[in-house]
Amino acid sequence: MIYTAHPSRPTADDAAPHFTYADYCESADVLASRTQDFCPEALLILGSGLGFLGDRVEEAIFVDYGSIPHFRPSTAPGHKGRFVFGTLRGKRVAVMQGRMHCYEGYTMEQAAYAVRVVRLLGAKTLFVTNAAGCVNTDWSAGELMLINDHIKLFDFGPLYGPNLEEFGTRFPDMTTVYTPRLQSIARETAKAQNIPLREGVYMYFPGPQFETPAEVRAARILGADAVGMSTVPETIAAAHCGMEVMGVTLLANMAAGVLPQPLSGAEVNAAAEASAPVFSEFILSCLESL
Ligand code: HPA
Repeated sequence: MIYTAHPSRPTADDAAPHFTYADYCESADVLASRTQDFCPEALLILGSGLGFLGDRVEEAIFVDYGSIPHFRPSTAPGHKGRFVFGTLRGKRVAVMQGRMHCYEGYTMEQAAYAVRVVRLLGAKTLFVTNAAGCVNTDWSAGELMLINDHIKLFDFGPLYGPNLEEFGTRFPDMTTVYTPRLQSIARETAKAQNIPLREGVYMYFPGPQFETPAEVRAARILGADAVGMSTVPETIAAAHCGMEVMGVTLLANMAAGVLPQPLSGAEVNAAAEASAPVFSEFILSCLESL
């Protein structure tokens, strides 16, 4: 059998087409017409366990990803695959109930597609959450970590391909991708609510298999505090188009090899469910303080 690359992945000779600015505009126009020109202040991309926040949106308008041109459905378990537009704690938001992960077969460009579309609708802030494995052995599973930086060594990034100048520059600065102003808001909010909040570096792994213990040790040596399979595509795209970003991780489990036991998706889901009341209140309070 002759090997052919997965059709949705870019290859070295770049057979896969990239999105054009017109594609993003077409998606944004459809959303604008379906939402009576709703202009969100913030985009919320909610990871495992927090999707229910979308159901708290007031005056909600739901739009399924499958009905928007150029969008792909989200196939991850527990991800509904739709936008919710409306207000949360008095702020106009677009909530993604379900995100696209590269492990579903998407390129980083596809995984980050929605960010640019919602930027075109007016959003200037991205709140992104995820569940991840805890690499830092001084910390415990179940804690929350404010992301202050990330490491992405694998795979092409979401900006791979022709640069779309309408969104940003060819070589965007990554020095303060996780906006210091929003980090301050997160710290103050955590303090006011008595929520212990760790701060650290999120390292991206493509998944869907969990990391090996050796990969986790390597991540620790490189300076990572958490390992996970999401967030970085969306964050890079958001930073490129000038959005402020706050990223918060639920340290759902100790990463592979830290404890003498295997990891499972069920453990991650249980941790996500257990953290949901505190995690959601924290995110809502941060949003309120914007
Ligand atoms: N590794 C990667 N992704 C994850 C993990 C992990 O240990 N836990 C939850 N998401």
